[in-house]
Amino acid sequence: MAAEHDDYCLKEYSHTFLPDVLKDQVAFITGGGSGIGMRIAEILMRHGCDTVICSRKGKRLEEAAVRLREATGRRCVPVVVDVRQSKQVKEAVTSALNQFGKIDILINGAAGNFLSPASSLSPNGFRTVMEIDAIGAYTVSKTVYDLWMKEHGGNIVNISATLYYTGTVLQVHAGAAKAAIDAVTRHLAVEWGPDNIRVNSLAPGPIEGTEGFRKLGGRSPYVKSMVETIPMKRFGTRTEIAEAVVYLCSPSASYITGSILVVDGGQWMVSGRSLSEMMSRASKL
Ligand code: COA
Ligand code: NAP
Repeated sequence: MAAEHDDYCLKEYSHTFLPDVLKDQVAFITGGGSGIGMRIAEILMRHGCDTVICSRKGKRLEEAAVRLREATGRRCVPVVVDVRQSKQVKEAVTSALNQFGKIDILINGAAGNFLSPASSLSPNGFRTVMEIDAIGAYTVSKTVYDLWMKEHGGNIVNISATLYYTGTVLQVHAGAAKAAIDAVTRHLAVEWGPDNIRVNSLAPGPIEGTEGFRKLGGRSPYVKSMVETIPMKRFGTRTEIAEAVVYLCSPSASYITGSILVVDGGQWMVSGRSLSEMMSRASKL
């Protein structure tokens, strides 16, 4: 049986929302071939969406698309794109529109991260994460807006994070990038609201079985003590993030825009209170 950290689809799924709540909508998902993004694709498809999943690694995307189609019976098209390359983004969005005729939902999930003290982070390391996460999310949003949503409306969900709320150690690059994404969410919500476009952020806490979780200490001996810091006393699941996306894209959220929905079991409110403990733990990851 596949481990939870492998990018397999759920063997069983019980709907909380109506299975046809997003019927025949089309979702364009960056970072949709792995981790949280892939589960978002699966759960959107289980609610009636067809999807375009994009990232840089073609083989992984192809394999993910096969699994997603088999698990859900919906269409899923993989498209190779580096969100830092605006020409590639335009080609990918154009290709999605040629195949599906519309894009109702955009999920900006593509991201890069690593742990690094600011003292040894090069400007290019900082820039790289800003370019993937923040500029990438803006580039894809702007392209989808120009080519489709400006005339037809839609829903944008930006996947951000809680890192910058408390100044998490070793994360100045990712925290700055996610802060920028949340700012983009609010600005675009204001500017594009009149075009019937809702723009929201979703900020996950630590989500088990993901690359982000592994990179930020999920394999360390401190995992058990990390879980103790979370008010809900457990890590989150990819499905919990994906179902929050379904909510944000559903008619139930029709008056919600410019919001940042935190899905973290209460973690950010209590984490990062002790600098010495954070530094000590981080130095041993
Ligand atoms: N510590 C410090 N700096 C690092 C680093 C680390 N662990 N990893 C990369 N960098 C720096 C590099 O040194 C380089 O800067 P330099 O030119 O000044 O040396 C810069 O970041 C770019 O690195 P590069 O490897 O060329 O970038 P890339 O575009 O090939 O890869 C990453 C981007 C680094 C973000 C890579 O981790 C990635 O592709 N991640 C995607 C998956 C992921 O991170 N998932 C988790 C999401 S939360
Ligand atoms: P992940 O599987 O590594 O997801 C990141 C995705 O981004 C990958 O599919 C990657 O695919 C893609 N990507 C990276 N650089 C790209 C680029 N330049 N162009 C296009 N695609 C690119 O990690 P994850 O943990 O599931 O993270 C998903 C999202 O959740 C991210 O936005 C992350 O910041 C956020 N998040 C995660 C956690 C967590 O606990 N996991 C917590 C808070 C927030 P390729 O390598 O094929 O390009």
